[in-house]
Amino acid sequence: MNDVKDTSGGEVITNVALKDIANLSKRRGFIFQNSEIYGGIGSVWDYGPLGIELKNNVKAEWWKSMVYDRDDVEGLDAAIIMNPETWKASGHVSSFADLLADCLECKKRFRTDKIQGESCPECGGKLTEPRSFDLMFKTRVGSVEGEALDIYLRPETAQGIFVNFSNILNSSRQKPPFGVAQIGKSFRNEITTGNFTFRSREFEQMELEFFVKPGEDEQWYEYWVEARFNWYIGLGIKKENLRLREHAPDELAHYAKKCHDVEFLFPMGWSELEGIANRTDYDLKQHSSLSGQELNYFDDATGERYVPYVIEPSGGVDRAVLAFLINAYRTETVRDRKRTYLSFDNRLAPIKAAVLPLLKNKPEIVEMAHRIRDDIRGVYRVVYDDTASIGRLYRRQDEIGTPYCITVDVESLEDGKVTVRERDSMDQVRLEASALKNFLKDKLENC
Ligand code: GAP
Repeated sequence: MNDVKDTSGGEVITNVALKDIANLSKRRGFIFQNSEIYGGIGSVWDYGPLGIELKNNVKAEWWKSMVYDRDDVEGLDAAIIMNPETWKASGHVSSFADLLADCLECKKRFRTDKIQGESCPECGGKLTEPRSFDLMFKTRVGSVEGEALDIYLRPETAQGIFVNFSNILNSSRQKPPFGVAQIGKSFRNEITTGNFTFRSREFEQMELEFFVKPGEDEQWYEYWVEARFNWYIGLGIKKENLRLREHAPDELAHYAKKCHDVEFLFPMGWSELEGIANRTDYDLKQHSSLSGQELNYFDDATGERYVPYVIEPSGGVDRAVLAFLINAYRTETVRDRKRTYLSFDNRLAPIKAAVLPLLKNKPEIVEMAHRIRDDIRGVYRVVYDDTASIGRLYRRQDEIGTPYCITVDVESLEDGKVTVRERDSMDQVRLEASALKNFLKDKLENC
């Protein structure tokens, strides 16, 4: 248990390569390559026992800030499969494609909007003419040939909100300004992949469509840009690694009047974490015109009818998870040994506490440790572990970001006290076992 941090141990290193994150993710059970036993499939990932906890915590924090902490946002869970007319109206059928060029020398493929000049950015070779690649996955609904309908897996969750605009307006007591929040899977047949989970073919989005009166859109846009930037900071992303970048006019999506990206300094450079767009009245008008259904709002107070403008903060769950992993990664030398730990905000940590018996061959200690584990678990994930020496058990919990390790020793049997070790500082305190529940509640729920 002699694990107090040696202050002469040197600096804490926070730089990390993507391959270190990918290795740790696999070794500890955060993220696995999908269908790996068959050689995998490009850019599709599975979340392991710790990954699912981290992902759920990220989604819960987003939902809390978007829905539970406000009274002007409703939730929705729309289906992935939609009537294909949706994608004609949204503009995805005609314009959701990447322009790609291949290098005739090294055979690498590039998005032409991401490279400068007309030759290969890697080897200087000649590039082919740009070709358009459709990003939507196509499949079929129905089994009888001729009667089957060609459909798409949704490339964004947003359209499920737009087509439900009237349903939500009529069934809730909301009126503009109000929003609809949704978290769900999206699919894109990405051609240029790599960088671990950053650009996946199956991924999750957290999207809010916030409907406002035209003319009030600019001020709500500013509001959401600031709110979304601060959400990441509030959950521990270092300010120097987060920035806002406004889209140049030629970068804007076909529906957007204005867009800011929240960018994170990933190991491969500044890259998009989330986009906040002013989508104007584009989507509601398009769906109105193609469906023949009125999608607008009548204001009883003023007698005015209008099509709301939409401000859309659209974040990727997988990119947020990756950013939180990178942001949390630390290494340092303690008593001549390298220690790796994930310094997650307590709200995001996959496991909140580990109960560790100092001697596993002493039944009374094991029994007391189990009792403590049973007492504190239920609200959040707590584990019991006695499969290695205490030093190794600490290292394991450090590496998966568990904020508190609770050790039961021989003295505990006499004085009813346990040792609580904090992950980052490695500080230890002795506490009555009966006080643990309140201690953890205070630490974990009042971040
Ligand atoms: N509804 C607007 C929309 O979908 P987007 O910029 O294409 O806008 C929003 O996507 C967010 O979704 C991105 O900022 C990113 O976090 C995430 N995202 C998009 N494509 C992704 C992919 N292939 N893999 C992982 N996340 C992706």
